[in-house]
Amino acid sequence: MKNCVLVTGGAGYIGSHTCVALAAAGFEPLILDNYCNASPKVLERLARISGGPAPRAIDGDVRDRALLDRVFAEHSVAAVIHFAGLKAVGDSVADPLSYYDTNVHGSLVLAAAMRAAGVRTLIFSSSATVYGEPDHSPIPESAPTRPANPYGRSKLMVEETLGDLCRSEAGWRIALLRYFNPVGAHESGLIGEHPQGKPNNLMPFVSQVAVGQRTQLTVHGGDYPTPDGTGVRDYVHVMDLAEGHVAALRHALAHEGLLTLNLGTGRGASVLEVVTAFERASGKPVPRTIGPRRPGDVPAYWADPSAARATLGWEARRGLDDMCADSWRWQSANPNGYA
Ligand code: NAD
Ligand code: UFG
Repeated sequence: MKNCVLVTGGAGYIGSHTCVALAAAGFEPLILDNYCNASPKVLERLARISGGPAPRAIDGDVRDRALLDRVFAEHSVAAVIHFAGLKAVGDSVADPLSYYDTNVHGSLVLAAAMRAAGVRTLIFSSSATVYGEPDHSPIPESAPTRPANPYGRSKLMVEETLGDLCRSEAGWRIALLRYFNPVGAHESGLIGEHPQGKPNNLMPFVSQVAVGQRTQLTVHGGDYPTPDGTGVRDYVHVMDLAEGHVAALRHALAHEGLLTLNLGTGRGASVLEVVTAFERASGKPVPRTIGPRRPGDVPAYWADPSAARATLGWEARRGLDDMCADSWRWQSANPNGYA
């Protein structure tokens, strides 16, 4: 199968949506996930979306070299998209070793197994968090990187390692994709994001308030130097992001070398704009109160996505109203996620 793409972390939020986009583009996703932050029930949902069989999936850890060697020996893998990792900034401060182990060590084991198997096309999930507090927005890829927490440093370490690997020998085709704020869900409402416990991120929290699971949103800071005083981010629809991965994969399969790209919309939205759009999309009130600033938060930033447009021909097509409508469809139909 020359179109087989190994998707580590493919049962997770962005990975599962990317599996939909890969299948739609004629690729065959092969998921590797240890389900530490996902449910195997997503596989049956993916089958419902595609109208075909569920994607093949291996229950295992990306740090397990022997397992990876078996996977590459048994499947004809053309490329790897590497989502598997831990992503909670606060947890990374409390437990940096497990973040460096999963995110950095996991990526090293994967890259070494790929090298041994002769698979040299890799798309890596990086994050706008590598920029830390930027000097200006929109942020181009050339902006300085100065991540402010272990999670962000783990992403930058992997970026640098993969850059060195690419320069060390011919044949590597690596794309480092720096996502801004992924939100939303597949328009079927069958797959989406369901964080364990109290959500840290804005959109899942707002969804849970709208569906009645939480009483109100605390807006973290109303005195930022932004038009309405609340934090501004570049929210990007997860299906746009998923399609960005397919575009990056196609480009990497055709071009050797290293590519570093922002995936964002180029537009910032404030917390209050998101809340208002969500109320419009859901028809439900989202009670909120303004609380203190959250430590470590940057007031405002958004992407310069022009390099992705120029290189891949990719740009985000879905707006904030689509992001909220699709989040709501998923949340209201699946208030307890896949449980
Ligand atoms: P997610 O937690 O939903 O997905 C990660 C998946 O990896 C999960 O299914 C989890 O079970 C799996 N996993 C974790 N450790 C593993 C291991 N050792 N072996 C095998 N599988 C493992 O998160 P997501 O939001 O889909 O994020 C995917 C990637 O994108 C992550 O690397 C994350 O750091 C990065 N990213 C996410 C965001 C965001 O806001 N969601 C922003 C920027 C970058
Ligand atoms: N916010 C609230 N109340 C909440 C949650 C969030 O007001 O309950 C605000 C935040 O203060 C911020 C905005 O909503 O202004 C977005 O916050 P998120 O937590 O949703 O997202 P962040 O921009 O803080 O961080 C996200 C991911 C990081 C990633 C970063 C980089 O969580 O992992 O984007 O793009 F690194």
